[in-house]
Amino acid sequence: MDAKRTILITGATSGIGESLLNHYSASGYQVVACGRNREKLAQYAEHNSNIIPLAFDITDNEKIAQAANQLSDVGHIDILMLNAGDCRYIDNAKAFDGELFASVIATNLQSLGYLLEHFLPKVTDGGQVVFVSSSATLLPFPRAEAYGASKAGIDYLAKTLRLDLKSENIDVTLIHPGFIKTPLTDKNDFPMPFLLSSQQAASRIYQGVSARKSYLHFPKRLTLTLKLLALFPDFVWQSIILRSNKV
Ligand SMILES: NC(=O)c1ccc[n+]([C@@H]2O[C@H](COP(=O)([O-])OP(=O)(O)OC[C@H]3O[C@@H](n4cnc5c(N)ncnc54)[C@H](OP(=O)(O)O)[C@@H]3O)[C@@H](O)[C@H]2O)c1
Repeated sequence: MDAKRTILITGATSGIGESLLNHYSASGYQVVACGRNREKLAQYAEHNSNIIPLAFDITDNEKIAQAANQLSDVGHIDILMLNAGDCRYIDNAKAFDGELFASVIATNLQSLGYLLEHFLPKVTDGGQVVFVSSSATLLPFPRAEAYGASKAGIDYLAKTLRLDLKSENIDVTLIHPGFIKTPLTDKNDFPMPFLLSSQQAASRIYQGVSARKSYLHFPKRLTLTLKLLALFPDFVWQSIILRSNKV
């Protein structure tokens, strides 16, 4: 493999993104590691000269522009891995928390517009853009109004961008992970069937992206079950989901 291939990973300071960083850097990639946690990013770079730390908040368009300017030495990006995200729940639907909703949409969806604005022009001919969405978009889940809506937006964005980037020779991969053990899911108070480690998730993503797959979903035991349930009338999957969501 060409040792000079470059991947930019958002959300590289924790969970799936951190495991992706380890996987790609061990595979010889130059990794532009993004997140807000400056200390963690500096530690990565201290131990590995192939890691370029880039600290910024993905909800701040100006900060993203500044970060992208700092990358002028790196030249092009082969893989733009848009992984950073947040998950918070609407605990009381009747007393709907509009601020929480807006904040989750800003972090998970609106940020992607800014990131694409500043980093997509750096993606090389033959490059790839990868969106980490969620299997939560396969069926509605209780309390996931904000998270699910943001991820459903990502699905549409990724599929549309795939059409429009064909002529630029840039491939788009959309990913629907199931439950992965990370700080994000450590907060969950409900059963998470077929939980995978972040290393297992990173390995599946690495293989699928290397094969230039347009769509990845895992673990299939979960995602295929959700896809099958979605084919049934609403009352069937609604009662199953409401029952299985009870702790
Ligand atoms: N874990 C799962 O079961 C699961 C399932 C499906 C999909 N996903 C998706 O996978 C992605 C990664 O999730 P994870 O489980 O690895 O979560 P995580 O461990 O909480 O990591 C989230 C990452 O996103 C970054 N981030 C969050 N808000 C940011 C902001 N405003 N600006 C810049 N960076 C920000 C964090 O970096 P800083 O704190 O340094 O800013 C961190 O590196 C998310 O998009 C999530 O929705 C996860």
